Amino acid sequence: MKGYVVSINGRFTTAAKAQVSVFDHGFLFGDSVYEVVRTVNGRLFAAGPHLRRLQASAGAIGLKLPHSAAWFERHMRAMHKKKPRTESYLRVIVTRGVGLLDLHPESCPKPNVIGIAKALPTWADEHYAHGCKIVLAGIRRNLKQATDPAVKSGNYLNNVLALMEARRENAAEALMINAQGFLTECTTSNIFLVKGGEVKTPGLDQGLLEGVTRGFILGVCRDLKLPVQECALTPDDLYAADEVFITSTTRDVMPVARIGNHRVKLTPGRLTLRIANAYHDVLHNPANLT
Ligand SMILES: Cc1ncc(COP(=O)(O)O)c(C=O)c1O
Repeated sequence: MKGYVVSINGRFTTAAKAQVSVFDHGFLFGDSVYEVVRTVNGRLFAAGPHLRRLQASAGAIGLKLPHSAAWFERHMRAMHKKKPRTESYLRVIVTRGVGLLDLHPESCPKPNVIGIAKALPTWADEHYAHGCKIVLAGIRRNLKQATDPAVKSGNYLNNVLALMEARRENAAEALMINAQGFLTECTTSNIFLVKGGEVKTPGLDQGLLEGVTRGFILGVCRDLKLPVQECALTPDDLYAADEVFITSTTRDVMPVARIGNHRVKLTPGRLTLRIANAYHDVLHNPANLT
């Protein structure tokens, strides 16, 4: 575990010594929420939207965050400072805390806050130059009426299984459909397609995480005066698309070249490149850095 910076309840420790009880309900039941913020030029990018989402995720599972957004922001900055000088991937996890071996959280008096930082991962240049491969996973995205995918929780088993499907086919990501057969999102990224000059992405009502990058990309499209729609999309829409790309905090905008054995018409497409370039400006805009 070299290269990781770890903190438990605000106190820094070494990766080797970091310990959380086996009775933490985050470990036992996936009863936790988390966020990931990246740095750009050593400053936090979009900490505000990420910490608002952390608050919303915690609220959705009835978990009271033990610290303010300002505390989390300060702590993430401290995590970054502890690292060798690279851009950071900063994860904060808030678990339900230690309690009885019993589902109900009433026995957990105090959430645990865990910080883990590492160098921001880099993806293969080839994925940006020629597009990556994704697969349409057999595993479905869970219902909004179950563990709502809008909640960034420690329950990622569907995503884990979908990513295992992707890796078996040598693909970078797996796209999940919902129970009704509509596209939702990939295991750790949101999906966009371009058809006839129009940009489309699955609507939040399909059951997906409201990606912070997704939100910026919708804004970028509006600024570029590109028609953009959040709507219900099927696998057929995806196969008929001119361009496809995925977005996330660590990937930015990554073109998709293949969906299983299907080749996307243009990779990277003209609009994908325009959007990626405009997002690069958003990433470096001082207004988004703290
Ligand atoms: C399920 C899921 N969807 C989408 C995303 C992309 O979200 P963001 O742009 O906020 O990183 C993530 C990020 O980890 C994710 O886990």
